[in-house]
Amino acid sequence: MAIKIAVVNESKNNETRVAVVPEIAQKLSSNNVTFSIEKNSGAASGFLDADYPENACSFFDVASEALKDADVLFKVNPPTSEEIGYMKKGALAVSYMSPFQSGELIKNMASSGIDAFSVELIPRISRAQSMDALSSQASIAGYKAVILAANNANKFFPMLTTAAGTVRPAQTLIVGAGVAGLQAIATAKRLGSRVIAFDVRSSTKEQIESLGAQFLDTGITAEGEGGYARELSAEELKTQKEALSKAMGQSDIVITTAAVPGKPAPKLIDRNTVESMAPGSVIVDLGAISGGNCELTKPDDIVDHGGVIILGPTNLPSTMPKHASELYSRNLLNFISPAITDEGLNIDWDDEIFNGANITRNGDIVFNEEA
Ligand code: NAI
Repeated sequence: MAIKIAVVNESKNNETRVAVVPEIAQKLSSNNVTFSIEKNSGAASGFLDADYPENACSFFDVASEALKDADVLFKVNPPTSEEIGYMKKGALAVSYMSPFQSGELIKNMASSGIDAFSVELIPRISRAQSMDALSSQASIAGYKAVILAANNANKFFPMLTTAAGTVRPAQTLIVGAGVAGLQAIATAKRLGSRVIAFDVRSSTKEQIESLGAQFLDTGITAEGEGGYARELSAEELKTQKEALSKAMGQSDIVITTAAVPGKPAPKLIDRNTVESMAPGSVIVDLGAISGGNCELTKPDDIVDHGGVIILGPTNLPSTMPKHASELYSRNLLNFISPAITDEGLNIDWDDEIFNGANITRNGDIVFNEEA
């Protein structure tokens, strides 16, 4: 039985990615899969309708037509209530769902009989690495944050020896060394900056050093569940802020990526700390979408605080939509492939990946915020 996957235009502002790129449509279509695609879904990321495999794809003027009869909806952003309304009962929806902030959406999907999977909840186990959309997209954000910082800095990143004298390298401080942070370290190093970085998980010291950066010991470790950090106590946060403040005063560029799943971004940088930086310094706050690591950050805005420039971009993957879509699309392919059989879709609900990412099933909400 053929499996029909729907792809629709992402209606969210400034979203340029598409959930399925032509190469992945081609790969899946060899496997009993057809696609119902809203026209021009890939256009903003550089993929024309004509690039998709003709024999496996049908194109529709409106999302409602693409969604009717679809067995699966693949999206980047959560489905809208209209899209949910067009889907048949028992269909799957797979996308970012922001599950901790999406109570109404989750209720709506459950009551509409949609079995929904949140890519954010795919467990970070080795078997699921190729499906890890958080990682593929965060790595783009880490890279682009450094490019943005370089573009806004009033200094070179590398050391330069010129006829007019020697230029000292800029110092970049990376706060948080998860996926985005490690990519930011690698990118800043490639540009020739001197890089220091820290995290509250002790395993990151080796990773930071292996990228050629210096580990900043703030004296705080906070290992949490599942390889993530836990929230800091008020006392720990104070200690960390003091250590950070000193390092920031000596840095030209600060990229913040500190995050604890399901919680607001830890507020690590206050006004005084920003004021300890020299005018012309740049902070790029990747935590902007969840409240910011810096208290002066304004999401998707540029703040000039006494000459220190603070950027709070919330969707950097959309500034590089071609590669972002290719990687995301491959994540979805790897996620769904085990469920594709000659007889149609067959989800193994006992599998920890499907189970972990599932938020609604058979009319019930199965997402547990505490888990
Ligand atoms: P991750 O979970 O891989 O890394 C976060 C790191 O922060 C972890 O290593 C954790 O140990 C560390 N951390 C937690 N509390 C800390 C503290 N108090 N001090 C220092 N380190 C601390 O997350 P990932 O994927 O690297 O994402 C990082 C941030 O970037 C998240 O806030 C995410 O939402 C954001 N992001 C932003 C994008 C954008 O376009 N603005 C795109 C993708 C991600």
